[in-house]
Amino acid sequence: MISLNGVSASYPDKTKALHNITLTIKPGVKIAVLGVSGSGKSTLFHLLTGLMKPENGILKWGETVLVHKKKPLQEWRKKIGFVMQNPDMQLFAPTVEEDVIYGPLQQGMAFTEAKQAAEAAMEACGIFHLRHKPPHFLSMGEKKRAAIAGVAAMNPDVLILDEPEAGLDPANTNKLIALMNDFHKRGKTIISSTHHVDFAYEWAEEYIVLEKGHLVCHDSPSVVFKQTLPPGLELPWAFEIGQLTGTTPSSRKEAIQILRERMANN
Ligand SMILES: Nc1ncnc2c1ncn2[C@@H]1O[C@H](COP(=O)(O)OP(=O)(O)OP(=O)(O)O)[C@@H](O)[C@H]1O
Ligand SMILES: [Mg+2]
Repeated sequence: MISLNGVSASYPDKTKALHNITLTIKPGVKIAVLGVSGSGKSTLFHLLTGLMKPENGILKWGETVLVHKKKPLQEWRKKIGFVMQNPDMQLFAPTVEEDVIYGPLQQGMAFTEAKQAAEAAMEACGIFHLRHKPPHFLSMGEKKRAAIAGVAAMNPDVLILDEPEAGLDPANTNKLIALMNDFHKRGKTIISSTHHVDFAYEWAEEYIVLEKGHLVCHDSPSVVFKQTLPPGLELPWAFEIGQLTGTTPSSRKEAIQILRERMANN
């Protein structure tokens, strides 16, 4: 369990990006982080991954407080995999394959085991055929998938993804959801930001909503989408269909099925 207690964060130019955030992330949950551009989603992830030091407040893993020193940070980061918003910040090796295998090898995995983990992750992310290419020759969507594969191969306890579906086509978005669900089935925690609430609605069990660096709410979809959301955020399409029809579809597919049945009965 990760907890944040009274956490605030500022950048060197004095921009206050997060204000007094208190929340608990239970193990094994799938959380979507919503908020308009500049609301603090990436900053929250930089705190959760220990890349950024809070200005005030504390972060804890269970009862262990995160101390921003080399050893405790290394221990903290071993448990949390982070896919950055911009894959160019993450990919660095001469080939995709070398990039994806780097993490498992760094963790101390034997080469054969690391190769297996890397191949499985590349397969799951649909980039196995690109494994010999230099990452900087890939399209944006392919780079994104390569960055996701590199983190997935390390099999972290908590997988944090910053707008992972940005730039992905529908087929690869579905593959990404399958990968996230597969992680979840293995007891892992998934935290992902997104601007696409319909994407989030397909997989998220909980939502964290940020507005101008403040925590608006952290709750289940049925609670979050019944309250007034910050300007710029929209309701998921399937949820709105549910409200109009007095039903509770949990996905786009279910919503369409409900509409079909209603039309057939009219
Ligand atoms: N390196 C930085 N230096 C100064 N201010 C920053 C820096 N990075 C982010 N900010 C500011 O912090 C605030 C939160 O930014 P953040 O990147 O966390 O937002 P976000 O919700 O991830 O937005 P987006 O959806 O556009 O990715 C914004 O006001 C932004 O301008
Ligand atoms: Mg961001």
